[in-house]
Amino acid sequence: MALVTTKEMFAKAINDDYAIGAFNVNNMEIIQGIVDAAQAENAPLILQVSAGARKYAKPAYLTKLVEAAIIDTGVDVALHLDHGEDFDICKKCVDDGFTSVMIDGSKHPFEENIALTKEVVEYAHAHGVVVEAELGKLAGVEDNIKVDARSATFTDPDEAAEFVERTGVDSLAIAIGTSHGAYKFKGDPYLDFERLKKIHALIPDTPLVLHGASSVLREFVDRCNEYGGQIPGAQGVPEDMIREAAKYGICKVNIDTDLRLAMTAEIRRVLVENPAEFDPRKYLGPGRDAITRMVQHKIKNVLNCSGRR
Ligand code: G3H
Ligand code: 13P
Ligand code: ZN
Repeated sequence: MALVTTKEMFAKAINDDYAIGAFNVNNMEIIQGIVDAAQAENAPLILQVSAGARKYAKPAYLTKLVEAAIIDTGVDVALHLDHGEDFDICKKCVDDGFTSVMIDGSKHPFEENIALTKEVVEYAHAHGVVVEAELGKLAGVEDNIKVDARSATFTDPDEAAEFVERTGVDSLAIAIGTSHGAYKFKGDPYLDFERLKKIHALIPDTPLVLHGASSVLREFVDRCNEYGGQIPGAQGVPEDMIREAAKYGICKVNIDTDLRLAMTAEIRRVLVENPAEFDPRKYLGPGRDAITRMVQHKIKNVLNCSGRR
């Protein structure tokens, strides 16, 4: 039981048709809910922390809570920085004991993204930490933007191969049609699988990462709406598309929105049904259990990584 890097877990997953869930964490209940699910399923696990999560919880709390979860459950965890925007935050996380960092230079021109990524790779590798980078821009869901226009921002397969070769990065996040949040598609869900297959064929040994991979499960959206939430039109990546992506080099599947929805839907239900309740344990506890159920479902039925530890 330990903090581990993603190296071994990706090496096993890359030539198999399963992927590893990378779940965003912000507080104790979210960490416990996820780690309990991985323990029950004997599954490999990545917990990831965004800059916003670091600021909200304060850095020391999240790393210590993750250490506590490992002691409590015996589950191996890769602790990853999500969307690090510059060298400084990546360095801080390496120094804090993270085992993996993402340098997200996707908003920069190609050569600048390469230079920034190389700088992080050099520092992280010298400290035994692995690095994820990103090439291409995740899709937006603005009105009137057609698939053709959106695909101009998708990851170019030849550039991906050059990027990996020149940076020495350990894994690569790619843009093939997903986006962050609960409103991913205006019309029918669309992912560019042909592009994914080309990228995987050109860099077959590089683990690929799918950001924006929440499915925005109907059950939670409906419950949020039923108990006073207002999130009409929410739409995620269909679960069969995630299963399909895992066959073509996608090793890491990023999930945050589904955690937020599962927890919030349950807390809403408890508070609406018990308006006199004011003990935080009475609603945070059920919220935590809802996360465990949802993550177990992902591990078993979507990521197909039960028993792969
Ligand atoms: O990719 C973004 C993640 O969902 C983290 O979101 O920056 O609000 O913590 P956040
Ligand atoms: P979702 O918003 O689809 O959960 O994506 C999360 C993510 O990509 C975190 O990096
Ligand atoms: Zn992301």
